[in-house]
Amino acid sequence: MEKIVSLAKRRGFVFPASEIYGGLAGFWDYGPQGVELVNNLKQLWWRKMVQEQDNIFGVDGAIIQSPKLWEASGHVAGFTDPLVDCKNCGARHRADHLAGTDSTDIAELTKLLEDTVCPTCGEKTLTPPRTYNMMMKTWVGPIEDDSARTYLRPETAGSIFTNFKNVMDSMHPKLPFGIAQIGKAFRNEIAPRDFIFRVRELEQMEMQYFIQAKTQDEVYEAWRQFAWNFMITELGVREENLQWHEHEENERAHYAAAAHDIYFKFPHGFKELWGTHNRTDFDLTNHARASGKDLSYLDEETKERFIPYVIESSVGVGRMLLAVLADAYREDDLGGEVRTYLALAPKIAPVKAMVSPLLKNKPELVLKAREVRAELKKIHPAIAWDDNGNIGKRYRRQDEIGTPFCVTIDFDTLGETPELKDTVTLRHRDTGEQERLTLSEVAKRIRLAIE
Ligand code: GAP
Repeated sequence: MEKIVSLAKRRGFVFPASEIYGGLAGFWDYGPQGVELVNNLKQLWWRKMVQEQDNIFGVDGAIIQSPKLWEASGHVAGFTDPLVDCKNCGARHRADHLAGTDSTDIAELTKLLEDTVCPTCGEKTLTPPRTYNMMMKTWVGPIEDDSARTYLRPETAGSIFTNFKNVMDSMHPKLPFGIAQIGKAFRNEIAPRDFIFRVRELEQMEMQYFIQAKTQDEVYEAWRQFAWNFMITELGVREENLQWHEHEENERAHYAAAAHDIYFKFPHGFKELWGTHNRTDFDLTNHARASGKDLSYLDEETKERFIPYVIESSVGVGRMLLAVLADAYREDDLGGEVRTYLALAPKIAPVKAMVSPLLKNKPELVLKAREVRAELKKIHPAIAWDDNGNIGKRYRRQDEIGTPFCVTIDFDTLGETPELKDTVTLRHRDTGEQERLTLSEVAKRIRLAIE
């Protein structure tokens, strides 16, 4: 993990939020390469989940909604984590983490932690476990009292359910259909940790698929498979780094009747990455009851009216980014030196290719290299320029941000060796190998790789 954190900082992927003020636990900023990678992950998910589907619609809801939403959804009462306090040193710990279990059952945790000492001070002075609501609170308007209190959304799913009727009325879809959303969510985690794995401000990519109850098992399986395939086929993650984890009853969220997580082999172990949940008719039933609005669906053919069931697919953008970085991080021996590189799938790499003139003080080389870059930018705008330091250093910098190709323009490109005129050197990130190709061949290679 230390190596990934260090590379992420050094190369502009992830910075601690408010770093010059000492940071703020659980909050992180994305730097120039990080934001490109994040955008690539989100765009790919959106394309596969929304644009390539005929029956999934996107929304972009407000982060702050009516507090009634979170009362009806059960989050005000049930979105809790178990915690213990230390009476001696004041430290707070997640009770389930301390007990080494996935269960959040208070009676079970009380028993498990009976003889446990505080990991901070070593004293046997822990309070019995209690639940703690993780929603971040705020006030709307100038008066900070309970009547103005609301919450920063803890999951994006909330405004998908409250827009169920709006999407039905505006798009007239037939079951099954889905509503998808990408956006920020906030959780006042007791113990944010493991770099960007557990944070307090996160971004989620969620899709709620509305179905007839009788299809719940097969639809659940299909969306589990979608997540698994996305990680392998789209992001190029190695299958041995993925595992299934089925939630026991005492581990499931208050709304879920079944839940399967994809666990990824993060540097701190196999942990949750992407969840598929069967939320049944829990949310729509509760929102219909609390709002007094009809959230049922009328099947035109059978004339049957019912509240649809929901299968949810939910993944955190930051966790996906960490998984991708951890999967792609490699060290090898190249030319007698240890080098670090990110074997990112070209379609998600922040930079697709870097163009450079062999020498920056030769105007004719620079001019030609600029022309080559302009040509390659027609394929994809993320074509970088680097003429700083020697060529080896430039390659190493690009290796560390996962740039799949480097293109170098030298005197042969200009015709010093006549048969090599208009050819360039294409250098491959993973092997360090170089080939001499025409510009159109290079363009074709890049185009194919990023498809
Ligand atoms: N709408 C369902 C839902 O929110 P969840 O299992 O609580 O379910 C879904 O969260 C996903 O969001 C997780 O699988 C994880 O990828 C991400 N996630 C949840 N809490 C997180 C946190 N504190 N920091 C980073 N990512 C988090």
